[in-house]
Amino acid sequence: MFRKGQGEDMEKKNLDWANIGFNYIETDERYVSNYKDGAWDEGVMTKDPMVAINECAGVLQYAQTVFEGMKAYTTEDGRTVTFRPDLNAARMADSARRLEMPVFPEDRFIDAVIKTVAANRAYVPPFGSGATLYIRPYMFGSNSVIGVKPSDEYQFRVFVTPVGPYFKGGVKPLTICISDFDRAAPRGTGHIKAGLNYAMSLHAIQTAHRNGFDENMYLDAATRTKVEETGGANFLFVTKDNKVVTPKSDSILPSITRRSLMHVAKEYLGLEVEEREVLFEEVKDFAECGLCGTAAVISPVGKIVDHGREICLPSGMDGMGAVTQKLYDTLTGIQMGRIEAPEGWIVEIS
Ligand code: PLP
Ligand code: COI
Repeated sequence: MFRKGQGEDMEKKNLDWANIGFNYIETDERYVSNYKDGAWDEGVMTKDPMVAINECAGVLQYAQTVFEGMKAYTTEDGRTVTFRPDLNAARMADSARRLEMPVFPEDRFIDAVIKTVAANRAYVPPFGSGATLYIRPYMFGSNSVIGVKPSDEYQFRVFVTPVGPYFKGGVKPLTICISDFDRAAPRGTGHIKAGLNYAMSLHAIQTAHRNGFDENMYLDAATRTKVEETGGANFLFVTKDNKVVTPKSDSILPSITRRSLMHVAKEYLGLEVEEREVLFEEVKDFAECGLCGTAAVISPVGKIVDHGREICLPSGMDGMGAVTQKLYDTLTGIQMGRIEAPEGWIVEIS
């Protein structure tokens, strides 16, 4: 028997948890804070999901917006928790600085996330349902700017929405293709979570889908010889002798899931890990490949297609490779409270 946690008696919304996809479902409350005259206001919770801004707002004209993606989970013993929010707070601060936006203080970021999850606790999917609560903090330039310059006013918001698996078909291995488009320039914005990186990926992802692929593998823009990432996840590879390898690059997003998985591989599973440049030419020699991120968790890749040349991973198209599965089980075990977490990784929302 498990200890009865605080959340366990709470009335959950009547959603078909096992079958929700990765879609927006409006929830009850969201957090809003405004920046004006050089300072953030104290912030409020509101029921209003609509945003009213000037037609010439910086976000609308010049895409001055950054965001984060994180999740809340119901643990096996009924608690509501979130995972390493300090790292999302720090990454959002880095993103803001790169786009000349004022930083929303990191402690207030964590507080806003906790408040928003707590206010929507009925939407945190039950343990074992396969769904989780996706948390989307974001901020944008809200006043009018017609010359190309930073806004003077900003809005920071957090909303939550229950989600199922990011890729349809759950853990069915993906088929991905080498993109003819580049995601990020050297010395560009690939390392931050700016909306502009996703706007420019839309044509590439739609092209991949039209050609029958689930996702793109982007190569480095300078030489097109090195593996970067996908539009929404970092890569993990497993060598034939069980080493876990992940690409190192200044133009990919420093994924919190990937950093956590590398720690899990080394400290929990006793595997050798390497963060280094990965040449595309090496990929044919790997045993397993996965996409990792908050939304993707670890989604196995079965096949990589480079303009007709197929690389079939030995792990196949039926399920996850053995190491990927262990990584997945350990990470989700930590997130759902089944496995003891490293200090500071799990923040309880009471
Ligand atoms: N890479 C990109 C481009 C992403 O959008 C994401 C999603 O957040 C990731 C990687 C994974 O990062 P994280 O594990 O912090 O969610
Ligand atoms: C995430 O994993 O949180 C992402 O932001 C990826 C995608 C939904 C943009």
